[in-house]
Amino acid sequence: MNVAIIGTGYVGLTTGVCLAYIGHSVLCLDTDLSKIEALQAGKIPIYEPHLEDLLAEAQRNLRFTTSYSEAIPDADVVFIAVGTPPTASGSPNLEYLSQAAQSIGEHLAGEFTVIVNKSTVPIGSGNWVGAIVRRALEQRQGRKANGAFGIASNPEFLREGVAIGDSLYPDRIVIGSDEERALEILYTLYRPVLDQTFPAPVFVPRPEDKGAVPLVSTDLASAELIKYAANAFLALKISFINEIGQLAERVGADIREVARGIGLDSRIGSRFLSAGIGWGGSCFGKDTAALVATASEYGLKMPIVEAAREVNCRQRDHVIEKLLQELKILKGRTIALLGLAFKPNTDDLRESPAVEIAQKLMVRGARVKAHDPIAMDRFQREHCHLGVELCPTVEATVEECDAVVLVTEWTEYREVDWEALAPAMRSPVILDGRLILDGDKLSRAGFRYIGIN
Ligand SMILES: NC(=O)c1ccc[n+]([C@@H]2O[C@H](COP(=O)([O-])OP(=O)(O)OC[C@H]3O[C@@H](n4cnc5c(N)ncnc54)[C@H](O)[C@@H]3O)[C@@H](O)[C@H]2O)c1
Repeated sequence: MNVAIIGTGYVGLTTGVCLAYIGHSVLCLDTDLSKIEALQAGKIPIYEPHLEDLLAEAQRNLRFTTSYSEAIPDADVVFIAVGTPPTASGSPNLEYLSQAAQSIGEHLAGEFTVIVNKSTVPIGSGNWVGAIVRRALEQRQGRKANGAFGIASNPEFLREGVAIGDSLYPDRIVIGSDEERALEILYTLYRPVLDQTFPAPVFVPRPEDKGAVPLVSTDLASAELIKYAANAFLALKISFINEIGQLAERVGADIREVARGIGLDSRIGSRFLSAGIGWGGSCFGKDTAALVATASEYGLKMPIVEAAREVNCRQRDHVIEKLLQELKILKGRTIALLGLAFKPNTDDLRESPAVEIAQKLMVRGARVKAHDPIAMDRFQREHCHLGVELCPTVEATVEECDAVVLVTEWTEYREVDWEALAPAMRSPVILDGRLILDGDKLSRAGFRYIGIN
């Protein structure tokens, strides 16, 4: 099938490369010329493990452009994967979505094209996109645009850092449309993934127990709500364990043991039960805010989702409180942050806890040094105004520091020789924001170890 992908960010690019890999002819479009030029040269503008390898394998089915007139007319399916960043009110900014819909409408020429919202968009956006496309198309044609296109929703559930595995071997695929023809076309498009008939790439092998992928084929509004409900549920699972963590600390319980004890219950499950600094990233904060905002348009409150958001904010304040307890005064202190990306294996800094913690520390007059294995270049580009000192190694970061905060659970931080580092610090205090370090071992190495829960 001929596929056009609008937006080559974390979602659009992964989707485009994976669809090309399974055999479709894919044209990826972005308005950012520098991204398209990099991609045309075979370079990936983001950090996502194995995406560049897969791009090389899928190259014969994949092209990149900034031109809507090149991408849209021949496409059977057009995916919209532009950003929907949060606004101050909690509702997502739909400006990019509206521009993409307008441009699609201006260039649509096929007999029937399925236009798919892959961006996470508020419930009702499918109809809204349809109206924009229709208006633009009718203006261009000077006549009614009946039957020229169908609107669908195909929410994306990939996780940055393991995006290829999530796209090729997903837990499920959700498609939603009020038009049967659009659903049939999407079913055909995804058939190789649903039936797992494509040859697995050697660098991201198929999980041994992977069977057929369940398809949830539903109406437009349900598909749109599924995405928000899924993210809200994951976010509240993390906030739940963090809320229990606060009590665990008061009563002297070990939150890791508590999480293990409840997670082994198959009704609960152990994933997303890691206590710590809490969630960050471009989705959970934005999507929970959007869910609350959508509900309020209907006169509804979402107290559970709101509480999950509140607990998450509290976790970041907790880091500052703990540092104040230990150091009494933050003014003039030097604090090391290990990890800047919002989670390991990505360079994504959107709503990263590290950025907020750095800001809070600097407001209190502290000097902040930081390290990240991958995200430092991006941090330099996007947050250089903060005045955080970036260091090339963990050793250089913790040197002469009054405390170190482990913010992101990169594997290499688990393997640090802390014993060797303690003497280089002004005071060997470590706040483990992800509860991944061995507290007893660190205490023996001379550290004051504090877990954040
Ligand atoms: N990142 C994730 O892990 C993830 C997971 C699931 C869903 N989502 C959702 O997917 C959507 C995209 O997220 P992302 O992280 O890939 O965003 P991103 O910011 O990385 O990428 C968006 C891209 O769209 C491009 N763009 C903007 N306006 C355009 C236009 N009019 N025409 C063509 N290109 C345009 C931008 O230049 C950018 O490259 C969002 O709605 C997000 O909530 C993201």
